[in-house]
Amino acid sequence: MNAVDVIAKKRDGGELSRAEIDLFVHGYARDEIPDYQAAAWAMAVFLNGMTRQETIDLTMSMAASGETLDLHDVAPIVVDKHSTGGVGDKTTIAVAPWVAACGLPVGKMSGRGLGFSGGTLDKLEAIPGFRTSLDIEQFKAQLARVGVVVAGQTQQLAPADGKLYALRDVTATVPSLPLIASSVMSKKIAAGADAIVLDVKVGRGAFMKTLEEAEALARIMVEIGQGVGRRVSAVISDMNQPLGHAVGNALETVEALETLRGRGPADFYEHCLVIAEQMLLLGSRASDLREARSQLEDALESGRAFEKALEWIAAQGGDVALLNGESYGLRAAPVVCELRAPRSAVVSGIDAMQVGLAAVDLGAGRHKKGDPVDHAVGIVLKAKVGDHVQAGAPLLTVHANSAAHCSRACQRLLGAYSWAEDDVSAAPLIYKVIG
Ligand code: URA
Repeated sequence: MNAVDVIAKKRDGGELSRAEIDLFVHGYARDEIPDYQAAAWAMAVFLNGMTRQETIDLTMSMAASGETLDLHDVAPIVVDKHSTGGVGDKTTIAVAPWVAACGLPVGKMSGRGLGFSGGTLDKLEAIPGFRTSLDIEQFKAQLARVGVVVAGQTQQLAPADGKLYALRDVTATVPSLPLIASSVMSKKIAAGADAIVLDVKVGRGAFMKTLEEAEALARIMVEIGQGVGRRVSAVISDMNQPLGHAVGNALETVEALETLRGRGPADFYEHCLVIAEQMLLLGSRASDLREARSQLEDALESGRAFEKALEWIAAQGGDVALLNGESYGLRAAPVVCELRAPRSAVVSGIDAMQVGLAAVDLGAGRHKKGDPVDHAVGIVLKAKVGDHVQAGAPLLTVHANSAAHCSRACQRLLGAYSWAEDDVSAAPLIYKVIG
């Protein structure tokens, strides 16, 4: 067997053995298999899917492409969370320090933007000086000292996922259940956390469009994690409209920090609470959801959650002097324009994928592997599903590099809104918790 045989077998709908998967995954991680063969293989998996056993084997093979951390010399229980990707999803930036401020260490390996969905590393790098690339010693030392660390993949931890993730981003091979499950769980297994809360997004701005698909993804990820002795739960959450108000790297980072100061959008605040409660519960820091919520509210109201965020950002080199004031000093886009409501009506939908694609076109995401992202650009929603708006009232602001970018984005964004005459309720924030 060689790489071409493995691609051909998957192209023809065959089931790959663990040895064939290892040959491909480890060959790609070691740069022995080029991007064009990996892209062909990823497309074959995307089109033909994988069996449950192949998905488990792919996850374990990717986790074994580097080292697996043991964090028990740092803390008895470390917790992690991971989202399957959405629009406006800046949850990690709020919940990681928030949970750490409740005394539970959070060690997390995050990713970059993927297609229309943003990535935590890109958002954090909007803070001047913030380092996302840490080696294992630095990761563990910060976890022990600060109680929270968020880093990107290295050559040491799940390097196969690091390469494949960047390739899938630009080869239209992201929305595949086995590729998402193996990507998420290989990183989670390698990063060594004992307890893992998965935030599985469903809806127009998610890779899983139906509840059935999201549930299938959640169940296999929980099964894989529990199979290697981790405590895992999955929260299935709505991603039909963007989460919160801000979409775009710096804009989202500011919104997450504002939330830790008690000034975040209601839907985002509630979503963060649900994820953080699950983390405290799974990490044995709270005995029930009520106790978890009360610890979290106390950490927020006392200012400890925001202070922990600043301590964490400073530990990773971020310029906290910029963040500590009232008006955050992150780089702003040169042009800001407003999209106004074309009629007096109720907002009945905001297609999160269209908003995500508009943000990518503004420069917040990538079209080609390795493209730089523009941290300053993005969109801030002023009206969300269920809001009554008058004709001419602001629907959103676009933060762009030029007036031409602004008007192109506004055109697309207007098409993302749907309207009703009568009251409309937004979809529930949370559909289900599994595990
Ligand atoms: N998050 C990941 O880490 N990988 C995916 O494939 C999708 C979301």
